Amino acid sequence: MNMATGRRLLAAARLLGIWLAAFVGVSCGAELSFTLEPSDIIAVQEQPLMLYCQVEGIPPITTQWRRNGVILLEDKNYTTFINGSLLIGRFQRRRSDGSSDEGDYECVAQNSFGLVVSRKAKVQAAKKKKPKQGTEDKCWWILSARCHPEASET
Ligand SMILES: *[C@@H]1O[C@H](CO)[C@@H](O)[C@H](O)[C@H]1NC(C)=O
Ligand SMILES: *[C@@H]1O[C@H](CO)[C@@H](O)[C@H](O)[C@H]1NC(C)=O
Repeated sequence: MNMATGRRLLAAARLLGIWLAAFVGVSCGAELSFTLEPSDIIAVQEQPLMLYCQVEGIPPITTQWRRNGVILLEDKNYTTFINGSLLIGRFQRRRSDGSSDEGDYECVAQNSFGLVVSRKAKVQAAKKKKPKQGTEDKCWWILSARCHPEASET
């Protein structure tokens, strides 16, 4: 093999390498990327709450959730689904152990190529609504008799 052929082969191999790298990178997604990230949410107390997270990449992919930076361990209070979603069985602002389900949640996904962290989703407990006093207030539970000043006076 002469020098020119060698150089040409080397150039061709290099080109193939670049092309392969681009192909693998684009079509298989060695890099993990989010197709669904959790969003800020107001949670209703004592109700189940689902947070969504979906990633694309080469399997196997494992998904974990963090609340305020601390990994949530799966127990009877939390379930992590295979599709990445997190289910809080019964949302509680104050748990008996002093912890709270409120906080910043983020989803952490990992495969053998790397790790990605989603945006932070702020989860807050809904404030209990008190029925408003006064006749000026527009009633959104208009079907309820308690809500109609005229109705309740008769
Ligand atoms: C993930 O799986 C759970 C349980 O099967 C389901 O309730 C939820 O809707 C799924 N999430 C998405 C984004 O499909
Ligand atoms: C679920 O949360 C409660 C606090 O409300 C805690 O006492 C309990 O240990 C948690 N469940 C598990 C399996 O850790």
